[in-house]
Amino acid sequence: MSYNVAIDGPAGAGKSTIAKAVAKELKLVYVDTGAMYRAMALYMLWEQVPLQDTEKVIEKCRQANVTICYENGMQVVQLNGENVNDFLRTEEVGNAASVISPIPEVRTKLVELQKELAANTDCIMDGRDIGTCVLPDARLKIYLTASSKVRAQRRYDELAAKGEQGNLQTIQADIEERDYRDMHREVSPLKQAEDAVLVDTSDMSVDEVISVISEMCRRSREG
Ligand code: DC
Repeated sequence: MSYNVAIDGPAGAGKSTIAKAVAKELKLVYVDTGAMYRAMALYMLWEQVPLQDTEKVIEKCRQANVTICYENGMQVVQLNGENVNDFLRTEEVGNAASVISPIPEVRTKLVELQKELAANTDCIMDGRDIGTCVLPDARLKIYLTASSKVRAQRRYDELAAKGEQGNLQTIQADIEERDYRDMHREVSPLKQAEDAVLVDTSDMSVDEVISVISEMCRRSREG
C-alpha cells in the first residue's frame, strides 16, 4: 500500500510551500489538488462560461480533460493536453476555482483522478477535502492554518517580492470571503478531519513548519 500524507487548510496557509519542501525531504511526490480545480476554472474562463451558470459549467466540465504528469519532479497540469502551469496562479483563476469547486460534477471528476494518483504513489497531497474525503485512510493528516491577517500579510509580501503593489485590506477581505465559501459549501466543505493534527503557523517561520511536519511524516512512516 502506498504511503499518503494529507494536508488541508484555508487559502494562503502555506500548504503548497510546506508540502513541496516536505515532499523533497521525504522523497514523496507532491500532489497539488488546488491546481486541478484551477485548471478546470481556467477552462471556464477561456471558454467564457458564466461561472454562476452551473448547468453550463457542468456541460463544459465534460469537455475539459485535466491530467497531471511530472517533469523533473515538478507537477505539470495539462488541460486537454496543454501544459497550463503558467496560467494557474492568478487571483482571478483562484477565485474562479473557489466558485466552481462546490459543483459535485466538478469534484467527482477531479477526486477520481486524485484517488487514483494516491493509490499508486507515495505522496503528500494538499487541498481542502483530502483528509475528510479524498484520502480518509491517509497515514498522516495535517490541518495547516494561520490567522487571516497573517495570511494576507504573506500574500502581500509575496506580491511585493514580484514588484506588484497589493492592498492589504482588500487581500484580507478576499481571503476571508474565500474561506467562507470553502467552509460553507454543501459538498466536501473545508474542515479539519477528526484525526488530523492542527498546525497553526501564525507565529512560525517556514523553516520551523517544514521541520515540524517532516518529523511527523518520518515518525508516521516508521510507525
Ligand atoms: O489551494 P488553491 O488556492 O490552489 O485552491 C483553489 C480553490 O480550489 C480553492 O478556493 C477551493 C478549491 N479546492 C477544493 O475545493 N478542493 C481541493 N482539494 C483543492 C482546492
